[in-house]
Amino acid sequence: MPRRQDITKLLAPEAIGALPRHVGIIMDGNGRWARARGLPRSKGHHAGMKALRRAVEAADHFRVEALTIYSFSAENWARPKTEVDYLFSLLRHFVRRDVDDLHRRNVRIRIIGERGGLPEDISRLLRHCEELTRANSGLTLVVAFNYGGRQEIAQAARQLAEKVARGEVRAQDITPQAIGAHLHAPDLPELDLLIRTGNEQRLSNFLLWQSAYAELVFLPEYWPDFDALSFQRALLEYAARERRFGGLKEDPRKVGAPAKASQGG
Ligand code: IPE
Ligand code: IPE
Ligand code: MG
Repeated sequence: MPRRQDITKLLAPEAIGALPRHVGIIMDGNGRWARARGLPRSKGHHAGMKALRRAVEAADHFRVEALTIYSFSAENWARPKTEVDYLFSLLRHFVRRDVDDLHRRNVRIRIIGERGGLPEDISRLLRHCEELTRANSGLTLVVAFNYGGRQEIAQAARQLAEKVARGEVRAQDITPQAIGAHLHAPDLPELDLLIRTGNEQRLSNFLLWQSAYAELVFLPEYWPDFDALSFQRALLEYAARERRFGGLKEDPRKVGAPAKASQGG
């Protein structure tokens, strides 16, 4: 459960300055958090699930429109089977325990990533979350599960190639907008802020396309220690940044989101 005192200590959204519409989080450091306490890695993942609840609550407080969380990467299959199994069972647990509550709070859940190759019950649960919350109008929580940015872009390229082969699309119409429109969730707002915890400064194949102009904030704390104040710290850092999108600071007409608000760039 979220730590109440964190939420009450937060600034009002209006006090932050420019707020991101779409935040992505690479939730990293569960294993090191556990090791530092002499605990098995699974305890770190379990504590990480609680941090996720705090992150959702904070995103809601700051009226973020979309929060995309990196939950299991396409490369995480390289971990020992026991750990992969544990991460899957944690997802089952999270869905069973939290989905109704998220639904009540008007959260819309969406999933990005490769569905093929997942255990059948997991696919079913993911579909259930999406269908149950489809009509909700509050925070969109995008769960990147079995997700890889390169895989997502390759999948978009494949779909476009098939359309070219069928004569539906001309090769010269394969623009950044066209590729953006074939990503897993093309209608989300542009990714504004990407947070990574755990003191690593890399993308690890997360939202490669979408992060073209995202502001990157790296936090030293391990994911299980992330709380509403960590989220606020990242937002304050974001508000202090100057986004130029290749334009010049001096000319306000050139500053701001690219012409299209979708991920098509
Ligand atoms: C992030 O924590 C959770 C997942 C990748 C699922 P890690 O498990 O990567 O933790 P560290 O990086 O080993 O500390
Ligand atoms: C990224 O963290 C994946 C998730 C948070 C789900 P990793 O721990 O897998 O990334 P690397 O291996 O350190 O780059
Ligand atoms: Mg890690």
